[in-house]
Amino acid sequence: MHTAKISGTGHYVPDRIVTNEYLSTLMDTNDEWITERTGIRERRWVEEGDGNTAATMGIKAARNAIKAAGIEPEEIGHIVFATISPDYYFPGCGVQVQEALGIHTAGATDVRNACSGFIYALSVGNAFVQTGMYEHVLVVASELQSPFLDKTTRGRGVSVIFGDGAGAVVLSRAKDGESGIKSCHMHSEGKNKEELTMKGFGTQHWIGELLDNGVDPEIHYPQMNGNFVFKNAVVRFGEVIGEALKQNGLTPDKIDCLIPHQANLRIAQFIQKRMGLRDDQVFNNIQKYGNTTGASIAIALSEAVDEGAVKRGDTVCLAAFGAGFTWGSVLLTY
Ligand code: UT7
Repeated sequence: MHTAKISGTGHYVPDRIVTNEYLSTLMDTNDEWITERTGIRERRWVEEGDGNTAATMGIKAARNAIKAAGIEPEEIGHIVFATISPDYYFPGCGVQVQEALGIHTAGATDVRNACSGFIYALSVGNAFVQTGMYEHVLVVASELQSPFLDKTTRGRGVSVIFGDGAGAVVLSRAKDGESGIKSCHMHSEGKNKEELTMKGFGTQHWIGELLDNGVDPEIHYPQMNGNFVFKNAVVRFGEVIGEALKQNGLTPDKIDCLIPHQANLRIAQFIQKRMGLRDDQVFNNIQKYGNTTGASIAIALSEAVDEGAVKRGDTVCLAAFGAGFTWGSVLLTY
């Protein structure tokens, strides 16, 4: 078995900054509520007509990751793309990366695991490299969510949280003696599928309902039972990080950087406290970008590398929880 290491990281977020104050002009909300309950101060939303889509943002992030890895696009053996906001219902965004970057006819796999998307995509890429199937795998996670949010008071429990952006990594076969990804854990619990969902566009809520009811906000906007999701998140994050530590014979003090999915700063702080981690052991950037769903860990990892919060040789734990429910963790030496 080979080891997969992260050889390059990159991210891209749209230029447009949307503040809590601005949101309070669209709906009955305020900076104090959003900051206190979520930690979010601003997020990036695409501007209509600025050319940003899940695929184009992902392509920009991918270019940065490939450059950082010091390889040429044609050396990529496979593309794994995580998103729940693809440009097309089908095909998936992976093929758009292949086309834009001219990656010969490399295979492209799309992953649709919402907030756990990057963890699942990374685990798929890891398996490809571990088995020796490919030497370099490009893993991209990107979300374009702002156009699909209910920006009225009715949707405020969801729409103030989410943002747009993309992150990417190149996974490469480690040389002898080099370290990399040590473990991947993934879980799901489908009984909670409707606790965080967008029902529209699925075949269970499709043409018939559209014809009968027109555009029904209930099924065409993301819906979340926020409190229930929060309570499950804090439990599952703890379990799946614990699983990673146990498999690798580590204790929390050995983690140099924990990067949790940026769902809510209160969730991250809750996990930090329970694990007894110092502030410098946890990386958060939800304050600036909001919750970018599948892209959040990829963006945070790339930013942590850029800022020196994650350095070569560091023990890094990535963990996610979200719709499905699905959750997972990846433990690695960067
Ligand atoms: O990324 C995928 C996974 N997602 C998560 O992990 C998110 C988990 N959930 C959460 O982060 C939190 O549940 C939220 C941030 C979504 C909501 O925070 P909360 O503390 O659970 O608030 P709540 O839903 O219990 O609502 C409390 C009150 C309600 O008013 P009443 O009924 O007490 O009068 C809401 O109507 O806050 C009201 N409210 C708002 N007020 C101002 C809800 N959204 C807003 C808002 N601005 N944006």
